Amino acid sequence: MQTMRTIEWRDGTLATLDQTKLPNENLILEMRECEEVAFAIKEMKMRGAPLIGVAAAYGLALTAYHSKAKTREDLIRQIEASAKILIETRPTAVNLFWAVERILRKARGTTGDAETVTRVVVNEAQRMADEDVEANLKIGEHGAELINDKDVILTHCNAGSLATVDHGTALGIVRTAWAQGKKIAVIATETRPKLQGARLTAYELKRDGIPVSLITDNMVGYVMSRRLINEVVVGADRIVRDAVINKIGTYSLAVLAHEHNIPFYVAAPKSTFDLVHTSKDAIIEKRNADEVTYIGSQRIAPMGVKVLNPAFDITPIKYVSGIICETGVLSKTKLEKLATASKHG
Ligand code: MRU
Repeated sequence: MQTMRTIEWRDGTLATLDQTKLPNENLILEMRECEEVAFAIKEMKMRGAPLIGVAAAYGLALTAYHSKAKTREDLIRQIEASAKILIETRPTAVNLFWAVERILRKARGTTGDAETVTRVVVNEAQRMADEDVEANLKIGEHGAELINDKDVILTHCNAGSLATVDHGTALGIVRTAWAQGKKIAVIATETRPKLQGARLTAYELKRDGIPVSLITDNMVGYVMSRRLINEVVVGADRIVRDAVINKIGTYSLAVLAHEHNIPFYVAAPKSTFDLVHTSKDAIIEKRNADEVTYIGSQRIAPMGVKVLNPAFDITPIKYVSGIICETGVLSKTKLEKLATASKHG
């Protein structure tokens, strides 16, 4: 495990690593206002579905902790105002909305004065952070059972400790398998345009001494056709009834894996499940054109060129060999059953 959790509550201050600066600089961001948390999520200083969920919960905890509200009602109004700001930051990862809803429900359901509500909200945010770590450790255990000694695992984007409170989902599986003594290796896709694979996944794995090779996104077909990998393991931003929504490029990986008969696993905690919706309801975040026309500060495309920049894509469930969550590995049939239960429940 890393020495510091990716996000830490320090008596009314929220500390995190600024992920836009990695791997070149380890800059700790300290936030005392919910607006700063919202900005850090929007600018991807904090990113990854589980992390932005917990960050949003802590953002509401900051609002409560520093509030001067005299009454419970005034405090709840302030928390609701902060919640509105947070849910405008990024539209795709369901964890953000789940976390905000959970804190709001807890605050509204608490009787007593403003001080009591504050205590309850801060404790709930802390609990959510702890639950995320526990879920990732469980995902690691279940997922590691699918990994054999000497396997090479292909992953996309960053679903590691940096995308969660600690340990990671897809990389949590890698970490657990490695800790069990399996001599595995990882192939990480660079993940254009934001380079989470090159900047974050490669950084995390190198830091932990786990063998990793970096490839550009367009090398995946070669890698699979040459059978240089044994399985693909990725994270998710939202799992709906019929699909997995994850970083742009995931769908291409899944189709290629299917063509080459390579298992394609998705690792995610239950906080990423949204089984009342289908892919038709999905909101795919569209980001700024500059992310595509520049690499760092270097412009790489002619001025004025039109750009498409969807941040996520949709992988139909038929391409998914299994969803690894904290309760085990879910087959397509099990997911369908869960979906039916959520529809009727
Ligand atoms: O745009 P990002 O970097 O927030 O996207 C992150 C991903 O797509 C991850 O795969 C996903 O959030 C799972 S992280 C455990």
